[in-house]
Amino acid sequence: MSETASIKLGDKSYNLPVITGSEDESAIDISKLRDITGYITIDSGYKNTGATKSAITFLDGEKGILKYRGYSIEELASKSTFLEVAYLLIYGDLPTQVEIEKFQKDISRHTLVHEDMKKFFDGFPSKSHPMGQLSSLICSLSSFYPESLNSGQTAEEQNLTIIKLLAKMATVVSWIYKKSLGHPIVYPQNKLDYVTNFLNMTFGQRTEEIEIDPVVVSAMNVLLILHADHEQNCSTSTVRMVGSSECNLYASISAGISALWGPLHGGANQAVIEMLESIKADGGDTDKWINKAKDKNDSFRLMGFGHRVYKNFDPRANIIKKACDEVLEKLGVNDPILEIAKKLEAAALSDPYFVERKLYPNVDFYSGIIYRALGFPTDMFTVLFALGRLPGWIAQWKEMRENKEPIGRPRQIYVGEVNREFVEISKR
Ligand code: CMC
Repeated sequence: MSETASIKLGDKSYNLPVITGSEDESAIDISKLRDITGYITIDSGYKNTGATKSAITFLDGEKGILKYRGYSIEELASKSTFLEVAYLLIYGDLPTQVEIEKFQKDISRHTLVHEDMKKFFDGFPSKSHPMGQLSSLICSLSSFYPESLNSGQTAEEQNLTIIKLLAKMATVVSWIYKKSLGHPIVYPQNKLDYVTNFLNMTFGQRTEEIEIDPVVVSAMNVLLILHADHEQNCSTSTVRMVGSSECNLYASISAGISALWGPLHGGANQAVIEMLESIKADGGDTDKWINKAKDKNDSFRLMGFGHRVYKNFDPRANIIKKACDEVLEKLGVNDPILEIAKKLEAAALSDPYFVERKLYPNVDFYSGIIYRALGFPTDMFTVLFALGRLPGWIAQWKEMRENKEPIGRPRQIYVGEVNREFVEISKR
């Protein structure tokens, strides 16, 4: 007999079905709760609410496990490329040689962005934040490629929109970087693989293709793979929520980019470097900053520490920490903030405040240090997170559409005024 959960309200008991996932995680299905009891559940921040059944990413926060489509993140980070992982997330299986070549070729065909988009792009002030530019530019792709607006797209048409978005996102990200320098954009080179092409458009020059250090290409692949999906986090839930109204892919992803921007989510990688810089400028006394983070009257938080689901360690942080040491050594970069980061990490990991609350370094703690070593300015870090997260967002949007999930519409408990009498403005 299948397991049920019983709930007692007053003198009445109700049985609710229990759902078990393929990794044995369990949920009480409350989808009929209001119909049968008149009650809803409340769970601010969705800390304990499963919003969907998904076959894309599994993570176990207690054990520090992360898998994409059943493959461990450790194995994918060490053995595959970002494009392979993108294919895996979006289509469900690792590609064969023929499939990956076709995928790469299809993407290469669509790397150019409509030239009229540049006029729109030119309008941004040169100092405007890259995330604001990215979110607006990705949404505006829907104006330049309006076939995406048809919510009844066939699978083939939908796939073309997916390919276009993957292709154009890398081009747009490189435009944003070039604009921040006041340099001319570099057009895509379709003979290059996805990551090398992105690096060439970013660090190359208009007239000549530059040689990109394989250490840089490999580090970039690892970083993008580690960020590629993370199940129902704030930005992914946003993409699914916006997409559930049958809104087009570009607009849904643009909403996800906005959600990612905040310092409690993807914006933490920028915030970590800013924090490390402040500690350095303040004399490098890490104990002082640890105490600030612990002080309930001080709003300061140790950026890059803590996670909603990882309560043991963040497996991505372990991989990144190792990659960070390798990249810095191979590129011969000696970054003083790395020392501060290591001291901070050691101090926090032995401090009861952080130990009791299970606050460990997350993916963002070390990613910024690598991005910096690769030559990216701080305010580009979250844009790079978005570039990595794109295949995950697309896979989740596609899954939600294919499963014909209903429009997202939570309920609430109203706690405001009841039946107030209207008073004319002259008498208030
Ligand atoms: N520094 C100091 N105290 C912290 C921190 C921190 N970074 N994070 C959590 N706490 C404390 C918090 O004050 C609370 O203490 P108490 O129980 O005494 O009130 C307790 O730990 C639980 O915190 P919470 O805010 O209820 O936890 P949450 O699950 O709602 O928030 C988080 C998770 C990631 C938003 C939070 O840990 C945080 O703000 N971290 C810093 C920002 C950061 O690094 N974000 C990147 C997350 S990883 C990238 C991604 O996937 O987005």
